[in-house]
Amino acid sequence: MNELNEARVLDQLRTVQEPELGRDIVTLNMVRDISVSDDGAVAFTIELTTPACPLKDEIERNAREVLRAAGAREVSVTWTSNVRRAAPAQAQQLVPGVRNVVAVASGKGGVGKSTVAANLAVALSQDGARVGLLDADITGPNIPLMLGVEGQPVASPNNKIMPLERYGVKVISIQFFVPEGQPIVWRGPLVGGAIQQFLRDVEWGELDYLVIDLPPGTSDAQLTLAQAVPLSGAVLVTTPQEVSLLDVTKALAMFERLSVPVMGIVENMTAFVCPHCGEATEIFGRGGGERFAREHDLEYFGGIPLDIRVRQGGDVGVPAVAQRDAGPAADAMRTLARTVAARMSVRAARSAPVLSVS
Ligand SMILES: Nc1ncnc2c1ncn2[C@@H]1O[C@H](COP(=O)(O)OP(=O)(O)OP(=O)(O)O)[C@@H](O)[C@H]1O
Ligand SMILES: [Mg+2]
Repeated sequence: MNELNEARVLDQLRTVQEPELGRDIVTLNMVRDISVSDDGAVAFTIELTTPACPLKDEIERNAREVLRAAGAREVSVTWTSNVRRAAPAQAQQLVPGVRNVVAVASGKGGVGKSTVAANLAVALSQDGARVGLLDADITGPNIPLMLGVEGQPVASPNNKIMPLERYGVKVISIQFFVPEGQPIVWRGPLVGGAIQQFLRDVEWGELDYLVIDLPPGTSDAQLTLAQAVPLSGAVLVTTPQEVSLLDVTKALAMFERLSVPVMGIVENMTAFVCPHCGEATEIFGRGGGERFAREHDLEYFGGIPLDIRVRQGGDVGVPAVAQRDAGPAADAMRTLARTVAARMSVRAARSAPVLSVS
């Protein structure tokens, strides 16, 4: 009988691929702490590039298979994660502990950016990532309401602003600094200044992902803002109808001009499924987001159906992914979060050389 030992386990695991990154998990330096007991029980740790990894089950299944085939009596896998940095160098200066900055943007207003940003942040946090959410909509901040978070941030010992926390997500919004009901009027340059301050002067600590909810449009204010924010990638939100798609073209052009990589597009408010009869009605038309993605060579992140639980949850501070019996819209947003996290891992892997195990 060929005895299983650590070296042989490592050899076997060299045949297990990380499908997203296209290499095996040993070469990617993801395998840690292998132990083999006398009676053939194998234990090891896999360090993922994101706790929100959509391929976790597949990797585990394949690892178990090859090890059992090699004679392991029992296989036990422990998971950890180390999110690598895909943010540009500029981000490291402003927000040193933040590894990835993801912006949620659209051309047209009211298509669900804030909803997507809030659910994305909470879903990533539910998966175990360290997440922050910056409400960059300075004139119409909605994040505090959507997450049910209010209060006034206090200063940290080193005189920075402490973000508030909800659903495990660190949140900052201009809303925390103005009396309720008061209109907020800013001109372009001030908006950029406020955003920079939110990046620089907030005690974000170590974050795997900082999600930024951008205001709608491509106005001067929006432009200043996008330049002020060191983005590692943008997720565009559209609804299926033509006016929304027309506007998202402008948003795409703006990000291209600013050299911000657009990761993909999600179509929100796709078919409404009647809770009574189950019939799907495509209120805003169909397939616009997917078509747009194809035409512009972007990834299509899928559709989020219109669901009353999303709107109700947004109004009372319980985002869909945090609701019990959340339904298909929440599922779609959870999938979106994992896909975005996976793509960030790929970007980080591309921007950093892979260390190989000695
Ligand atoms: N999939 C959905 N199903 C049901 N309601 C939704 C869905 N997505 C968003 N909504 C609702 O639509 C409204 C607008 O959404 P949201 O505020 O997220 O859009 P926005 O793009 O951030 O708007 P703005 O451009 O004003 O910042 C909210 O009341 C929200 O609850
Ligand atoms: Mg919004």
